[in-house]
Amino acid sequence: MIESPSVNPLLAGAGSVQSAQPCTLVIFGGSGDLARRKLLPAVYNLALDGVLPTNFAVVGFAKNDFTDEEFRNFAREGIEQFSRRPVDEAHWPEYERALFFVPASFDDPSCYEALKQRLAEIEPQFGIPGNRVFYLSIPPSLIGTCVEHLHKAGLINPEGKGPFSRIIVEKPIGRDLNSARQINAKILDVFDEKQVFRIDHYLGKETVQSLLVVRFANSIFEPLWNQKYIDHVQITVAEEEGVGTRAGYYEEAGALRDMVQNHILQLLCVTAMEPPWSMGADVVRDHKLGVLNCLRPITGRDVEKHVVRAQYGPGFHDGEGVPGYRREMGVNPNSTTETYVALKLFVDNWRWAGVPFYIRTGKRLPKRASEIAVQFKAVPEILFNTNPNAQLEPNVLVLRIQPDEGLSLKITTKRPGTKLRIWPVRMDFRYDTTYGDQTPEAYERLLLDVMAGDATLFMRRDAVEASWTWIQNILDAWEQMGSRWLPEYPAGTWGPVEADRLIEADQREWRTL
Ligand code: BG6
Repeated sequence: MIESPSVNPLLAGAGSVQSAQPCTLVIFGGSGDLARRKLLPAVYNLALDGVLPTNFAVVGFAKNDFTDEEFRNFAREGIEQFSRRPVDEAHWPEYERALFFVPASFDDPSCYEALKQRLAEIEPQFGIPGNRVFYLSIPPSLIGTCVEHLHKAGLINPEGKGPFSRIIVEKPIGRDLNSARQINAKILDVFDEKQVFRIDHYLGKETVQSLLVVRFANSIFEPLWNQKYIDHVQITVAEEEGVGTRAGYYEEAGALRDMVQNHILQLLCVTAMEPPWSMGADVVRDHKLGVLNCLRPITGRDVEKHVVRAQYGPGFHDGEGVPGYRREMGVNPNSTTETYVALKLFVDNWRWAGVPFYIRTGKRLPKRASEIAVQFKAVPEILFNTNPNAQLEPNVLVLRIQPDEGLSLKITTKRPGTKLRIWPVRMDFRYDTTYGDQTPEAYERLLLDVMAGDATLFMRRDAVEASWTWIQNILDAWEQMGSRWLPEYPAGTWGPVEADRLIEADQREWRTL
């Protein structure tokens, strides 16, 4: 294989062209799970890679009375457990001196004054010109309060005036269309849309970004990428884990809000969008919005036909018995929260007319596996495809998002030998064997993009609301249905039979992963 590395600035994405600017990262919820597992390890890896600005500090701001020292220990424990690279003892003292903590009660103005004062000490110490990134890793109900207090305490500069102020908002943005609109309105009372970075960490995954490159940097796929040649698309995001310690949040969310409204619809957008003419943030986001606007609404009785929800019951994980969802810690024993969703949707535009997209996601499935599989139409029933009992397998392009990140294409070949034997084979590309390097975590790329001011991989307000608009119909129908149609699947299995029936009704089947 001849490798000719080429970097086209249009395709490179602004994040890799501009560099991160000096700033302080203030993490609301800095003593929480996300900070420990993802954010602090991500910042640490960026520091190890030498891509953080030299003038940089982190302030944890959370309901906790950590001292700076305790926060540093907390960060270190998180990094030891979750970082893709171990702690480098030689480098650690230099790193930890840039970590600080300010105890917070999010509705108490005096805490914001304390934060302001602390920033006024830290910024000159680290030569930071007053640029601030506020990362809100907090429940959606607190977003409005925090934003308002930040504003009242004079912690935010208007866009384009003085040092920058940017805000990162974690999902879920609301729990339905109305609450999402309210949250967005509150944020935009204070911030300009250009300052707002709504994060969906799936967009930071290497394989999701590379899907755009595969589609638009190769001439062989795009001509086939439409209803003339594609039979259907399957998007699967399977998780092995159960609800774990997150019942408080998950009980209010469920799989549709937790995974489909954001991550999976984003995967769909990247798969189905029209070619953007540049990687400019708004160009890409306009094109993705185009997909959401074309989603055929699933309403009323059609929800029963096209959407399956289910909850895991007792079963097995790694050969050990595990409890059903209702017996998990913190879960209501009569909970009707779904832990699994399968659905069929259509993108009603010229490119995708009539092509079904099948989606499935769930917790406590047999393995962790996420992929986008594009199945092409079968060849005509002539020549090699004349035996009705042994039809040729169609071509399938699979983009493996995780694990085993890579891409495979199933094609039909002749098996060597004197007889004509037709055989399907897979051409397989794996990131790790081809590129060797460790892939950065999604949060690394995304944090860096915010520091560089590149919003390409972040959700714009209109897209968040468009996806809630589509999801809202399903939520409304489920509300009407109450607890009817909530089948159980044993933990460690591929979901309920109803999900199989959904796709089998179209003479298709779920892929075996
Ligand atoms: C989060 C969801 O956004 O994504 C979790 O809230 C889910 O429920 C997680 O487990 C999956 O992310 P990843 O990167 O492990 O696939």
